[in-house]
Amino acid sequence: MGTERITIFDTTLRDGEQSPGCSMNLDEKLQMARQLELLGVDVIEAGFPVASEDDFAAVQAIARECRKPIIAALCRAIPRDIERAWEALREAAHPRIHTFLATSDIHLSYKLQKTRAEALVMIREGVGLAKSLCQDVEFSAEDATRSDWDYLVEVFTVAIEAGATVLNVPDTVGYTVPDEYGRLITHLKAKVPGIDGVTISVHCHNDLGLAVANSLAAITAGARQVECTVNGIGERAGNAALEEVVMALSVRRDAMPFATGVNQEAIYRTSQTLANITGNEVQPNKAIVGRNAFAHESGIHQHGMLSHRSTYEIMTPESVGVRQTNLVLGKHSGRHALAKRFEELGYPLGRVELDKAYKLFTKLSDQKKEIFDEDLLAIVRDGLTHIPETYKLRAVQATAGTSMFATALVTLATEEGETTETALGDGPVNAVFAAVDKLTGLSGRLLDFRVHAITGGADAVGEVFVQVEFDGVAHGGKGASTDIVEASVRAYLNATNKVLFARRTPVPAALETRC
Ligand code: KIV
Ligand code: ZN
Repeated sequence: MGTERITIFDTTLRDGEQSPGCSMNLDEKLQMARQLELLGVDVIEAGFPVASEDDFAAVQAIARECRKPIIAALCRAIPRDIERAWEALREAAHPRIHTFLATSDIHLSYKLQKTRAEALVMIREGVGLAKSLCQDVEFSAEDATRSDWDYLVEVFTVAIEAGATVLNVPDTVGYTVPDEYGRLITHLKAKVPGIDGVTISVHCHNDLGLAVANSLAAITAGARQVECTVNGIGERAGNAALEEVVMALSVRRDAMPFATGVNQEAIYRTSQTLANITGNEVQPNKAIVGRNAFAHESGIHQHGMLSHRSTYEIMTPESVGVRQTNLVLGKHSGRHALAKRFEELGYPLGRVELDKAYKLFTKLSDQKKEIFDEDLLAIVRDGLTHIPETYKLRAVQATAGTSMFATALVTLATEEGETTETALGDGPVNAVFAAVDKLTGLSGRLLDFRVHAITGGADAVGEVFVQVEFDGVAHGGKGASTDIVEASVRAYLNATNKVLFARRTPVPAALETRC
């Protein structure tokens, strides 16, 4: 049976980043984009340039750095948006303008106050303008699944006439069901003149938990591009999960004879990279990448697995990059071994970065005997990020008990020297945060605080994520240590240093408060 290629269009950095708790700064978006390139996605939708200066800068930086995939930028079908998207994209090796307009009567009358005829004019002009700037133009009919099917035929006919190369049929509100969506694709294929010369794309939201099923039904009916996100993040209930679409196509090639260019063994690492950047852990029972996705608990299942893995396993954990044992390095490992392991993990480090990583590694290996991949990833994330450290942690001590207020003593270093403060609090973490506030003169309001053990055992490295609001603007912070109070103060300082950095290089408040 011949296999046709499905284009994987990743929108983690655009639709995914729009969702609560998932906003990323420029460094984080670049880190994620590099990982997506290693994963082998065909298209990276890097952002919505007209939305903010930050989005613009991220699209531009990704376009300059990621040379293999197509880099797409989103814009409404209006000239200012389209021109801004092109400005951000113009240095890409393979640029794509992705322009959209809503086509359902609900959106046309309540959101856009436009008639169907007026929308057709906007589509012709918008796609035409995009085409005059860029060869590769995608047009999305927002809320397509609640649009009139015959009107959609007119919409896509106009888009093709104006030069669109990809037609996207989004299920914006996660409303459709697999059979209906498949029939819609078949209808468009039969009725839109010239549709065989362009790519049909699908973009499904997960409001009814059907995003992946709908995407697969559309592929079977003739769609050849799937828009999806890592871990399924995205507006409301999220988008179709990239790892689920890719693995469904791979495991069930007998039922769906299609291939993707995704390097499956990089799937787990990509999922973890996103979880670590955003601080949103993957739900344990999440298909493919959840902690329990390959765990066999019941006796009957364990017995079956011991007899033969195929009894209860339809794909191996190794096939998506989940290694059963990932003990890699110890105290006596040298710089060479460390550099090699980082490279294998997808982080080829330059000399300066490697020096810094090696210092952090030796410090960590004094604290714990065994160093796991996750520890190394924490070093990359927390030790090598480029937020300038206006305040550095020199020392922290905290005492707490059942019959006393917690007390904390924190010493921070700046270019001017070291200063120490003490503070009381409801618990040791609260007390160290209060001491940091006294030292920095800022007043943070803690919105979210999450701890998780990166590795197992009593000497596990704990990682803390915080969301802190400073003067109405929220910033995320991360810190890792074998000591949870130290990890907490590092996370709080990371957020503090971010706010100070942002104040020196202001960004529109709208983006920062998305989280
Ligand atoms: O869900 C949606 O309709 C979108 C479009 C802008 C493609 O994200
Ligand atoms: Zn969407």
